[in-house]
Amino acid sequence: MSRRLSITGCIICITVIISVSAVQAGIATTKHNLSTSGPGPIKAATEQRVCVFCHTPHRAIADVAGIGVPLWNHTLSVASYQLFSSATLLSPTSPIIQPDGSSRLCLSCHDGTVAIGSVVNTGTTLSSLTLINTAPGGVMPEGINNVGTDLSGDHPISIELNSALIDDKAQQCDSGLVSFKVCSPPAGSPVHLEKTNNRYGAGAATGMGVQCGSCHDPHEDPVPGVTVFLRAGDRTNHDELCNACHIADCAAACP
Ligand code: HEC
Ligand code: HEC
Ligand code: HEC
Ligand code: HEC
Repeated sequence: MSRRLSITGCIICITVIISVSAVQAGIATTKHNLSTSGPGPIKAATEQRVCVFCHTPHRAIADVAGIGVPLWNHTLSVASYQLFSSATLLSPTSPIIQPDGSSRLCLSCHDGTVAIGSVVNTGTTLSSLTLINTAPGGVMPEGINNVGTDLSGDHPISIELNSALIDDKAQQCDSGLVSFKVCSPPAGSPVHLEKTNNRYGAGAATGMGVQCGSCHDPHEDPVPGVTVFLRAGDRTNHDELCNACHIADCAAACP
């Protein structure tokens, strides 16, 4: 019995080591490697560890909003955001919906209000890490990687994608108001839904929807500047990414 347990324990431990080293191998060549070995202009003055900019094994930020913070180490932003709206958008925009889930993690660096080196636990002290080539205050420089707090021109995020939304969007599509219906990404797609506490409609909550992390994987970016951490496609080819959730044939069944 104890032998079997230790074999199981060992398999779990090997799996954890393999998946952590896969993350490490994936992230090392990306702009999210903010250690001194990182390939991008923005990186640490002296810090050599890779994960510490975003995660910590101890003293992680409390998951106050139930957003699924994975041992998060980076100071969260307290900004409020303008989110996308349109005449046909069904996802609620009022009362004002604010980003949650993985989107808040990305925005903690990408909204340009919090220093990129502002972490909770460096392992040796409870203070921040120093980076080079940031804007004054240590924040993300102005430009396309600083998305700001006005996200009204950006794809909706932190919205629940459930069967009620799928049905209502199909109806809009049938009546010619829009040309695309919405579906959940098919099983096996690299694009996926993530946790959100924001609700759509009155049906049973799925708690799953569209977040920054649905389209981007912060640990994988084969060609920096081109694949821009996308789960499918690249900066110029979005077909596979968008078609994972949007289908141009109103009558087609969701996969
Ligand atoms: C620039 C920020 C950043 C860095 C650096 C980073 N991560 Fe992450 N990590 C994230 C974000 C954001 C999420 C949540 C992703 C989501 O929900 O889509 C996450 C999620 C995770 C998760 C839980 C979900 C999963 O994908 O398994 C693990 C485990 C993880 N990271 C491990 C690591 C390790 C190990 C390193 C260092 C080699 C690392 N991360 C470096 C941002 C980062
Ligand atoms: C529906 C999919 C989708 C979602 C959701 C999404 N992105 Fe993107 N993102 C893209 C695509 C596609 C690109 C490629 C360049 C482009 O078309 O602007 C991109 C590019 C970027 C870039 C590179 C700069 C640029 O504009 O080219 C940054 C930074 C970025 N996204 C951050 C985010 C953050 C932060 C969030 C959440 C607030 C987010 N993205 C949510 C699809 C998405
Ligand atoms: C700890 C801070 C931090 C966090 C958290 C973070 N990023 Fe980044 N990200 C950066 C920095 C720094 C760069 C490089 C900016 C530059 O070189 O101008 C970057 C670059 C990018 C780029 C552009 C890549 C390219 O090749 O130009 C995208 C896209 C991106 N991040 C998306 C995300 C998404 C999505 C998340 C959440 C899942 C996230 N980031 C979380 C710091 C962060
Ligand atoms: C993970 C699923 C997912 C992906 C991937 C995705 N979308 Fe969406 N998209 C949605 C959902 C859900 C909505 C909200 C629909 C609503 O509330 O009416 C939406 C809304 C939109 C809207 C606004 C529709 C309206 O009626 O105002 C546009 C335009 C759009 N998406 C375009 C794109 C493009 C372009 C891409 C690829 C770059 C993309 N989407 C990728 C799920 C996704």
